[in-house]
Amino acid sequence: MNLAVFGTGYVGLVSGVCLANTGKKVYCIDINEEKIQKIRDGISPIYEPGLEDLLKKNKDNITPTTDAASAIKEADVVMIAVGTPFDGQHIDLSYIKQAAKEIGQALRDTGRYVVVTVKSTVVPGTTMDVVRPIVLEESGKSEDEIGFCMNPEFLREGNAVEDFKEPDRIVLGVTSKKAEETMRSLYDGFPNTDIMITNPTTAEMVKYTANTLLALNISYANEIARICETLEDVDSEDVFAGVIKDKRISPIENGKRITPKLTTYLRAGCGFGGSCFPKDVKALASFARDRKVDGKLLDGLLHINKSQMEHIFELGMEKYEGQPKKIAILGTAFKPDTDDIRESPGIRLAEYALERGMEVHVQDYKALENTRDEYGDKLQYHEDPLDAAKGADVVYVATIWDDYLKISDEAFESVMSENAVMVDCRSLYKSRAEQSWRVRVGVGQPSETGKKQEVYAD
Ligand SMILES: NC(=O)c1ccc[n+]([C@@H]2O[C@H](COP(=O)([O-])OP(=O)(O)OC[C@H]3O[C@@H](n4cnc5c(N)ncnc54)[C@H](O)[C@@H]3O)[C@@H](O)[C@H]2O)c1
Repeated sequence: MNLAVFGTGYVGLVSGVCLANTGKKVYCIDINEEKIQKIRDGISPIYEPGLEDLLKKNKDNITPTTDAASAIKEADVVMIAVGTPFDGQHIDLSYIKQAAKEIGQALRDTGRYVVVTVKSTVVPGTTMDVVRPIVLEESGKSEDEIGFCMNPEFLREGNAVEDFKEPDRIVLGVTSKKAEETMRSLYDGFPNTDIMITNPTTAEMVKYTANTLLALNISYANEIARICETLEDVDSEDVFAGVIKDKRISPIENGKRITPKLTTYLRAGCGFGGSCFPKDVKALASFARDRKVDGKLLDGLLHINKSQMEHIFELGMEKYEGQPKKIAILGTAFKPDTDDIRESPGIRLAEYALERGMEVHVQDYKALENTRDEYGDKLQYHEDPLDAAKGADVVYVATIWDDYLKISDEAFESVMSENAVMVDCRSLYKSRAEQSWRVRVGVGQPSETGKKQEVYAD
């Protein structure tokens, strides 16, 4: 079984490498020669834990190339994993269309049966109404010779390899039994996984619904947290701890409570970021509008998310006595274990500070290079969090990097400016004794220290 993957980004490269690891011969195609050269050299162009080792281990099964046509001619499955950025109104399908065109042209003079699979996140109808007609027209072939599949990807950046190797489900939206059989063979290395067979448009809708559900939980938690912040002695974490004990949320089986992972999204923070949630919520909201569906809930999620980041920025400004001049942002990656800064809350906070003419120092363990590529000399970059925090008036801890927990309050206090404020955007330091810190502002909890009501145990 041969696979050709279009795009060697987070999804394409992880999918290609992990499927090569199950014995498939994989062509990794990209238009970016630099990325392809890195992959040839055994270097992953993106940071994902375990990816580079797996790439090296499977190098005999992986052919990195910019020659899409030759790769497609050898393939049983051609997978499209190119970007689908939001252009302000809709998702931009130009990369998808270009890939579909190249695939169709390359298939024109081949004799083998191929399944063209869309792995990129695309609005419902794209596989059937955009990709399928382009491929069929460019190839001059019929649907007996080419099958179509929409196979959404659910991996989480930072855990992408693990998620791909141990999927919770594989959704295959296929156009025929033959396409289903080919796709089942592609995934025969995952024998115990729940495979859902459906049509391509349902598969597309599954992906959007899954991501917007997660975003909904985050925005809901942030809105509740904002209400809690206006109350005396009410911590949103305590509130949600009480809420999730509802047995319809966390059922009790054989005397043991099962707490679903979804409840971890019910936590105050600085909002959702990354390349998926913001884009997917915007895309589904605009798709709803196009179809005359009143999508106020989706618009509301976006509104809460933006307002939460602004609110967090203001928390630091308000608590600092005077006019802050120097700001430190710890964490520009949108989440730990990734170098991805797309729509990152830390980046958004840095932008707010830049808009106000402040000096902005940033630190990250993996995303510094990407941040520098985008912001150049607008920001000052540091490898060490304490160097970034040196002399800072307000420090925002924006990403849950484990290593931040190794830094003591004393170490922070010894370098920060005299009246410095720390905004603990992700409640990373919550378990530390509050009195050991002059002003640490938490999110979704009373911000004055020492105000917590006593909790009586029976
Ligand atoms: N990043 C994630 O966590 C994630 C998770 C699930 C789904 N998705 C979806 O998967 C898709 C890809 O996301 P990503 O984060 O991997 O994108 P990315 O931007 O990291 O990678 C896309 C790659 O496609 C390449 N490309 C563009 N046009 C090409 C062409 N014609 N031929 C060959 N290569 C081409 C680009 O050079 C780039 O390397 C998007 O639709 C995204 O929404 C992403």
